[in-house]
Amino acid sequence: MLALLLAMTTMAQNERRTIRSGELWPDNTGTHINAHGGGIMKYGDTYYWFGEHKSDHTSDALVGVTCYASTDLRNWRNCGVALSVSDERGSDIERGCILERPKVIYNPITKKFCMWFHLELKGRGYDAARYGVAVANRPEGPYKFLYSQRANAGTWPIEFGEKELATIDTLNAAHFKESWTPAWHKAVDEGLFVKRDFGTGQMSRDMTLYVDDDGKAYHIFSSEENLTLHIAELTGDYLHHSGRYTRVAPAGHNEAPAIFKHEGTYWMITSGCTGWAPNEARMFSAPSIWGPWKQHPNPCRGPKAELTFGGQSTYILPLNTKLSTINSQYIFMADIWRPRHPSDARYIWLPIEFEDGKPIVRWRDEWAF
Ligand code: GAL
Repeated sequence: MLALLLAMTTMAQNERRTIRSGELWPDNTGTHINAHGGGIMKYGDTYYWFGEHKSDHTSDALVGVTCYASTDLRNWRNCGVALSVSDERGSDIERGCILERPKVIYNPITKKFCMWFHLELKGRGYDAARYGVAVANRPEGPYKFLYSQRANAGTWPIEFGEKELATIDTLNAAHFKESWTPAWHKAVDEGLFVKRDFGTGQMSRDMTLYVDDDGKAYHIFSSEENLTLHIAELTGDYLHHSGRYTRVAPAGHNEAPAIFKHEGTYWMITSGCTGWAPNEARMFSAPSIWGPWKQHPNPCRGPKAELTFGGQSTYILPLNTKLSTINSQYIFMADIWRPRHPSDARYIWLPIEFEDGKPIVRWRDEWAF
C-alpha cells in the first residue's frame, strides 16, 4: 500500500503541467521523447505523436517512426516503433535509409491509419527524393510499408493550360549552366523542373499532410530541387495522389511546410533551405487550398525570432477549444536539430495567436493550458 502511494506521489510529482520549448521532454519512462520532424493525429480522446527516431550519432534511420500517446499533450506514453525500418537488403526502407517528417491521418471510410513520409534510399544521400506510404489498423501501428516513389509522374499541375504548356515545351534544364540568374528564375517559375521530371515523377522531400473539413486530404511537399512546394490531392483512401496538384511559390526555396485553416483562410508556415541550421520562418495564406497563395512577413516574435527561435517548423495542431490561458486554438511545432547528436534534438511548441488578423508565434519560456 505504501509502495503504491509512493508510486502515485512520484507520478503526480513528475506530471508535466506546462510546455517548456527547447528543453528535454521526458516520456512516461523518463527518457527524452524521440519523435522528430513529427506530427500529431487525434483519434478519440487521444493524441498520437509520430516522428523520426534519431540515433545518437547519425540522422540515418536505424529504427523507424516512433509513436507516443497522450490525452493532455504534455505527458506522453511511449508506444514504441510504429513503422520499423527493414532488414531486408534492397528494401526501400532498409535500415540506414533516410526517413523523415512522417505524418499520419485517419481515413474514416476505410478505417485505416495512413502514414506518409519523406524517403531517401539507403546509400544515395538525398538523391531519390521520394515519398513513402504505410498503413495500419490501429493508431500506434504496426504500420505496413506499401510503396515509395516520386510524385505525379506524367501529370501537369492544374494551373497549366495551353499557354503554359506551350511555354514549358521550350524549356530545357540542360541549357541552364547557371542558377539564380533572372532567366533561370523565370524558367523555374514556368516549370523548368516540372518538365524535367515529368516522366519520372516530381521530387518529394520535406512534407506534411492536411485533411480539410470536407474529408479531402492533401500532401504538401518540397519539390523541384526544393525550390517549389507542391500541394497534391490524395485519393479517397488517402493512400495515393489523385493526380491533381498545384505549385506554391516557384523558386521560393521553401521547406518544412506546416498548415492550418482559420475562419476559412489557409495559413502555411515554412522555412528556408539551410539544412539542419535554423533560418527565418516564412508564412503564406490562401482563400483555397488551390491558392492563390500570398506571402506574409515572418510570424515569429521574441528572441531569435529571425531564426525561428533556433528551430524549423514541422506541424501545426488545431485544438477544438480555445486554450484557457492564452487566446489561441493552434499549436505551432518545430524542431531544434542537433545534427552532431541527433537524438538530443529538442522541440518547440508555441501557441499561435492572431494580431491584426494574421497568425503570430510568440516565444514563451514556459506556458500552460
Ligand atoms: C532540412 C530538412 C530536414 C532534413 C535536413 C537534412 O532542411 O528540413 O528534414 O532533410 O534538411 O539536411
